Amino acid sequence: MANRVRKAVLPVAGLGTRLLPATKSIPKEMITVVDRPLIQYAVDEAREAGIEELIFVTGRGKSALVDYFDHAYELEATLKAKGKSLDVLAPSNVTFGEVVTVRQQQPLGLGHAVWCARHIVGDEPFAVLLPDELMFGTPNCLAQMMRAYDRVGGNIVAALEVPASETHKYGVIDPGPSDGRLTQIRGMVEKPAAGTAPSNLMLPGRYILQPEVMRQLDAQETGAGGEIQLTDAMARLIGTQPFHAFLFDGARYDCGSAEGFVIANIAMAMEREDVGPAVREFIARL
Ligand code: UTP
Repeated sequence: MANRVRKAVLPVAGLGTRLLPATKSIPKEMITVVDRPLIQYAVDEAREAGIEELIFVTGRGKSALVDYFDHAYELEATLKAKGKSLDVLAPSNVTFGEVVTVRQQQPLGLGHAVWCARHIVGDEPFAVLLPDELMFGTPNCLAQMMRAYDRVGGNIVAALEVPASETHKYGVIDPGPSDGRLTQIRGMVEKPAAGTAPSNLMLPGRYILQPEVMRQLDAQETGAGGEIQLTDAMARLIGTQPFHAFLFDGARYDCGSAEGFVIANIAMAMEREDVGPAVREFIARL
């Protein structure tokens, strides 16, 4: 049986330049979708999937992210004194030791961010969740991947179909034989030049990886965009360890851009019982 996945790395050290000026003084992961910051959705997903330790890879100007998960005693006391429920704060409270942070002093790429967590991850399998990709499904994306991992072990990356015209923006897999939602991976390429992608299956930012990927990242080799790419390090492991893509059953909202954030807000608001009816009514009127 595969080793249990207990730890998740959440890289949050990027500069979020596509969302400027909003991200000038707040991390993009603190921007809200409906009434909670983006980071809360990723943390909820990880917890529901059985993750026990959340490793945030943060950088300069990201302290609001870590503060968000502290107990807010003054706020709690005020809510209590006013007879208001504290339930609303519950998801943002973490247990002692549940959140660990490590710094990435320079945003040298996603692969480098993951590598910064190597000492905390240690010698066990781990998940990676990119919080700016909001994945919506029941069970959630990582939980679906965990079920697949219990069957096949090794490394599993979430995959989603995109139009061929968009593959140059993403990590793309070269697929082998499929069994249901699982596809063996023959290769991977980060941001392939237009017209050269091996498939239209992109990597939306959920991974279950074996610790050996850290040894590949030790080399600090740069790839697409001059960044140290996680995709390149994973690609070098193919053939030495099982590597599968998992076709996620659900929706993906890319909150790395302004239009993606707006779409995510509309879609997630419409799913909610409390705010959904008013939002639907407004959209119908529009
Ligand atoms: P992105 O490329 O989407 O994030 O990285 P970014 O660099 O912040 O955004 P733009 O392109 O400038 O608008 C995907 C994820 O990886 C993290 C980001 O925080 C995001 O969650 N990341 C990226 C790091 O932690 N460190 C890096 O060096 C690069």
